[in-house]
Amino acid sequence: MNILENAVSVGGPAALFPDDRNGIEHLDWSNIGQAFPIKQRRAYLNNASIGALSQPVVAAVNRFMEDVRDNGRNAYPEWCRYAEETIKARIGRLIGAHRDEIAYVKNTTEGLVNVANGFPWRDGDNLILPDIEYPSNVYCWMKLAARGVTIRWVKNRNGRILVDDIRRLMDDRTRLVSLSAVQFSNGFRQDLEATSNLCHERGVYLNLDAIQWAGSLELDVEKLGIHFLSVGGHKWMLAPIGTGFFYCRKSVLGLLDPPSVGYHSVDSTEDHMHYMLEYRPTAARFEEALANFTGIWGLDAAVRIQLALTPARIESHILTLTDYACEALLRKGYQIVSSRNPGEASGNLSFKHSGHDAQELSQRLRDAGVDLAVRGGNLRISPTYYNDSDEIDRLIEALPS
Ligand SMILES: Cc1ncc(COP(=O)(O)O)c(C=O)c1O
Repeated sequence: MNILENAVSVGGPAALFPDDRNGIEHLDWSNIGQAFPIKQRRAYLNNASIGALSQPVVAAVNRFMEDVRDNGRNAYPEWCRYAEETIKARIGRLIGAHRDEIAYVKNTTEGLVNVANGFPWRDGDNLILPDIEYPSNVYCWMKLAARGVTIRWVKNRNGRILVDDIRRLMDDRTRLVSLSAVQFSNGFRQDLEATSNLCHERGVYLNLDAIQWAGSLELDVEKLGIHFLSVGGHKWMLAPIGTGFFYCRKSVLGLLDPPSVGYHSVDSTEDHMHYMLEYRPTAARFEEALANFTGIWGLDAAVRIQLALTPARIESHILTLTDYACEALLRKGYQIVSSRNPGEASGNLSFKHSGHDAQELSQRLRDAGVDLAVRGGNLRISPTYYNDSDEIDRLIEALPS
């Protein structure tokens, strides 16, 4: 028997790259829900913790795995080129960047650490940081104390981070402002334009933890003048855990000394014995070695879905759903904790009830098939483009008055 006759074939490397092998192109607003099996079982309103995966994302991950199963390393050059050119260009389109300004990372924290450890700090410098950041955007800066760099904490005002408060903390040794584009605990959406304008006015760099923004709200890093930005794939991007991207504005690429250097950081990636420490001319210099292609194939599918639905419509859908939830919650006697002011509202909506414990409510909802998170003693929902008003209704029905 010829063993090859029984070999599973997925069509060789070429099968990885045709346009619609993962069934994305027939998706639109009328049928997007069908791509998310979780909807058949639960009202999943917890995408700001870990987003549920769609079938096309899982198919893309499997497709990559099948290629390695059936073809080993044979498509390696094509993988690298596709990840570098096609996928990064699509990520770039999503956030208003050029593909050369994108590096793959395994999580948000890795991108933040690139800035913290790569920035040319001098003894006596300071950076500005809100006092309600997720710890990813805290410890990497605290560690800089050993290099004589201090943190100036911006005190939140009832969950808001005001640009004027950032301004007041700046002095001539302030080099960087680092903050969450959307706060994880209460959904406060930073005024990125005003924050960036201030930074540019004062010659200060702006670094964003954008994991709670990207995938839910429109973004144009070029127009906004952002210097650095990091996004993990596993929340609003609805991409696999262990994926993400780091944006480094082209004009400041040379400012950072890549903290993690390996054979992929340099140009001669296939010329193994020609040792020359000359960084690649793009943000790919921050990728020290072979990247998580399996996950990146899934990330790509997730990005393609967002581009098809368009970020503008995704944002508007999310804000409409959360507005709808606010009205229903208020009617039921709940208090809205998140700011819903225009320009401050996001997909993260926090609320509470003076007569009910948040943890107990969360468990009760879970038993009723509704998932959300508890953050800072409040309930937090984070619906996205595959969610609908029926799922908000299920939440409201399952909540006690
Ligand atoms: C604002 C914010 N930053 C960072 C993280 C962690 O991201 P990662 O695990 O991708 O580093 C989270 C959530 O877990 C978050 O809410």
